[in-house]
Parts: sequence; structure tokens; C-alpha cells
Amino acid sequence: MNIVEKMKHDWNERAQHHARFWIATEDYHTEEKFAQSGIDTAQALLATIPVPHLPSWNVLDIGCGIGRALKALASHFHHLVGVDVSSAMITQSKQWLADHPHIHTYETSGVDLQEFPHSTFDLVYSYVTFQHLPRPVLERYLREIHRVLTPDGYLVFQLPIGHFQDVPLEDTIGIRSYSNQEIEESLQRNGLGFLYHPSPNPEVTETSEPHSHRFRVAKKIGPLGPVVSIDWDKLEQPNFVSELDTHLYAIYADNCARAGNHQEGIHTLQSLVNKNPAYLEGWLHLAALLLETGKLEKALDTLKKLTTFHPWYREGQKTFHNLLKKCANQRHTFFTPFPTNDQNSRNALKNTPNDFSLR
Ligand SMILES: C[S@@+](CC[C@H](N)C(=O)[O-])C[C@H]1O[C@@H](n2cnc3c(N)ncnc32)[C@H](O)[C@@H]1O
Repeated sequence: MNIVEKMKHDWNERAQHHARFWIATEDYHTEEKFAQSGIDTAQALLATIPVPHLPSWNVLDIGCGIGRALKALASHFHHLVGVDVSSAMITQSKQWLADHPHIHTYETSGVDLQEFPHSTFDLVYSYVTFQHLPRPVLERYLREIHRVLTPDGYLVFQLPIGHFQDVPLEDTIGIRSYSNQEIEESLQRNGLGFLYHPSPNPEVTETSEPHSHRFRVAKKIGPLGPVVSIDWDKLEQPNFVSELDTHLYAIYADNCARAGNHQEGIHTLQSLVNKNPAYLEGWLHLAALLLETGKLEKALDTLKKLTTFHPWYREGQKTFHNLLKKCANQRHTFFTPFPTNDQNSRNALKNTPNDFSLR
């Protein structure tokens, strides 16, 4: 697997899990909230363009997801195009944008814009996408953007700028941020330049807004530099799981439990620990949720697996032993080899008091 394949694989998985959540982790709960967040993003985008925008402009959204911002721009432009590396996002975008036949969305390679001829777009924009791209992928996109922008076109994009931060190449969601110098040089190599300097005060830029969501504006300033050839080599860690992925799945599971959807929370945590058995807290949360829903034997099985896989994990051992102590008189029932069966589970529940907790 190379990085192109991994980006597709990971973002398809996220889109299939819950596209709205992975696009807008705070505004995903209802379609209304999600739509409103698109309106807010579109307004911020339009406010950043330094000239009055024209409805006749050709507009491109890179990493459009299901079309959150595109939909909010529908009444402003006659020609809107969205591209995304994930086929699952694009499939869902057709539904989200069904009332707007003048918006077209396409699955693309995830590294170039080969579908579009030179000088096609008056405005290219991207929101909460560039920050997830491995550096060589962003470099390639900038080159492509120079190619597809009209001579007077605008590139408006969000990217955390201020200090350098990187994550492993295999990480398709971790946040990358750029120093001023790095992003300026990268734009320049690709014939682009900031219309406004990200901040006129270097002292402020160093420390402020490391994860800023604000838009920046760039324009074509010259010809392209020499091609930097990029080899999409095989990945060293094709099964790499991003810390941010794990963190966000855990938040999702927590949200489900708080909303009373315990089954979904349990299901999410189960997939999470299967995918990333090193996520120790995930095992504990899963056991706690199982216990909360009366699935005592499954909670014990979960803790037994945790302590088998990670015998040195004190918190796991302590939690397991506390729970065992509380149900000492049923010990024989619980020490069945996993996987368990439903009959065991029913017996266990019938015979146990219901005041178990993990602490
Ligand atoms: C956090 S979502 C944001 C979606 C959209 N920009 C929005 O604001 O609603 C990031 C999106 O970028 C897409 N993406 C990730 N890597 C990409 C790549 N290399 N090329 C194009 N899209 C990509 C993902 O599939 C996902 O839809």
C-alpha cells in the first residue's frame, strides 16, 4: 500500500462510519447543525476574497467531503465543482447536494487535478483538508492549483501556520502545521504567493493560532519552478493508526453513550480496540459501558482480554481484580474461556447483584 491508497482507504472508512462526524466533529449531530456550519464556512470564505465575487466564476473545492460548504455556496455561483479522495464521501455528496444540479462532485486521485484543463477555475478553495495531507501531497496539489487557476484566480485555503508540526507519513488525519517560511517557500516553488502575509508581526505568528481555521489567500505570482519528482513509495507502516483517529473514535463513542445510544458506543469501542489493541483506555471504557448496560460477563471478558494482552498495565489489572472481587461468588461462571456464549451471559446476569462498578 502507498500513501495514495492509504488516504483512500482511511477516508472511505471514516465516511462509511459517519461522514458528518469526520467532517465536522462538533456540528454533526443533526443535518440542520451541519448545514449551518457549512453556511458559516462559506461566509468566512467569501469574506476573505479581496474582491466582490462574481456568480459567473468557476469554483473548485479540494477535499469537499459530502459538500458541506459547496451547498452553502450554491446560491452564489453558477458553476461549482468538488473533488475528494474518498469515493464514499462523493457518493454521499450526491445525496446532500441533490437539489443543486449545478454542483458537480468527483472522486479524484488524492494528489492531482488531472481531470481539469489549464486555467479552468477563478477560485480554488480548501477547508480543513490541507492540514491532513502529507507534505509531499500538499506540494503536488499546489503545483496542480497553479495549473488549473486562471491568471487572476484566487486560492483560498485553511492551514495551520505559525509553527512546524508533522506526523508520520502514514497518518492521514493527524494535523500538520507549517512555519511561515516553509509555506511561503512551498507556494513560491509552485508559482504562488500570499496576497496577505499570514501575519505582519512574526512574534505573533510564532505563538498564535497553531490550529487556526482561518482562510488565507494566495494568487499566481509567477511561473512554476522545476518539477520535484515525488515517488509514492510503499509505506513502511501500512496499518498505522493515527492517534487523532483513535481520539476521535473515542469521542464519538462517548457522545453516543451520553445520548443514550449505548449499543453504538459499545460497537464503536469494540471496533476501536480491535483495530488498535494498544489503546488501553479504550478497553476500560468498553468494559465500563458493557457494565453500565448490564453485560457483566462481556465486561469481564473485555478486562480479561486487556490483562492478557497487556499484563503490565496496572490500571487494567486493578480494574479486573476489583470487578472479580465484587462477583467473587460467581467466579466459576466468569472464568470461561472467551468467546462466551449468550447462555453464559444470561446465567451470569441472573445470578449477580446489579451494583457493579469498575472502581
Ligand atoms: C475534515 S473533512 C472536510 C471536508 C470539507 N472540506 C468540509 O469542510 O466540509 C476532510 C476531507 O478531505 C478529504 N481528503 C483527505 N485527503 C484528501 C486528498 N489527498 N485529496 C482530496 N481530498 C482529501 C477527505 O476525504 C474528507 O472529505
